[in-house]
Amino acid sequence: MSIEELESIAQAMVAPGKGIIAIDESTSTIKKRFDSVKIENTEENRRAYREMLLTAPKLGEHISGAILYDETLRQSTKAGVPFTKVMMDNGILPGIKVDKGPHPLAGFPGEVVTEGLDGLRERLAEYAKLGAKFAKWRAVINIADDAPSGTCIEANCHALARYAALCQEAGIVPMVEPEVLMDGNHDIDVCYDVTEATLRSLFGALYEQNVMLEGTILKASMVISGKDCPEQASVDEVAEATVRCLKATVPASLPGIVFLSGGQTDEQSTAHLNAMNQMGPHPWPLSFSYGRAMQSAALKYWAKDLVKNFAEAQKIVVSRARENGLAALGQWTKAKAA
Ligand code: 13P
Repeated sequence: MSIEELESIAQAMVAPGKGIIAIDESTSTIKKRFDSVKIENTEENRRAYREMLLTAPKLGEHISGAILYDETLRQSTKAGVPFTKVMMDNGILPGIKVDKGPHPLAGFPGEVVTEGLDGLRERLAEYAKLGAKFAKWRAVINIADDAPSGTCIEANCHALARYAALCQEAGIVPMVEPEVLMDGNHDIDVCYDVTEATLRSLFGALYEQNVMLEGTILKASMVISGKDCPEQASVDEVAEATVRCLKATVPASLPGIVFLSGGQTDEQSTAHLNAMNQMGPHPWPLSFSYGRAMQSAALKYWAKDLVKNFAEAQKIVVSRARENGLAALGQWTKAKAA
């Protein structure tokens, strides 16, 4: 695949007013989400849940792509249509999570490094055949008294860059996700410093590994107060600090940046994205790739009756997509959400 094809996929992922839905929870992560609403974590329930989300009518008006887990990429609707076909028919690009999750970083207690590079070339070749157009790899950076170390940041960014180069070789757009966690009592300035150091390291590593930025998407965490910080930054402060940090670190040749929700409430995640876009224009489109902030309301409703509430739960997820699509244009208001 040519760089032009990678570029056009990347641009489609961040088309105006559109964003990504992240439904790539591993079997153990979806168990936590299902447990919280008392749904049994069986393969059929996972399939039915992802069918509810992916076949929601008009989802493609606001959603350009969905990140799937390995199992989901291979599944079909109850009527036997592969999810990848349903998605492409509705203008939703199939994406695939390819990392093998964070593991303890030897020598650095409390810190983690994401694994999954072994055999990745072969896995990507198979995913491309199955219809994946983009991939995701998540690195986790934890803020604590003595963390993150420079070693942790470098090890994670090196792996992200190796993954990104392998994706492009396979004709798949890499979404690179260095998530600075919200956990902790640190203030927004500490989050700024850690995010800045992480993004500097990431773009250095991408350059070293010959990754073409024109065919890459950044999935970023917002610059935000730690969850337990007594002083919580306002919506405008978060938006301003996040945009400032991205402008200081992310080359303008990148086609787009999408955010994770990371434990923010639905409303916060939408309000922050909207405020950032109202401060534009920016060098790149700023959109969303939310997991929990796209799904939690729909999951909660669907859980009450998996059959009867199917269609209504779909309306809820489409409504979240619409709100976040408006926020990606800086046109969201609380009134419009109602
Ligand atoms: P959240 O929006 O729930 O943080 O999930 C996004 C994601 O894909 C994290 O890797």
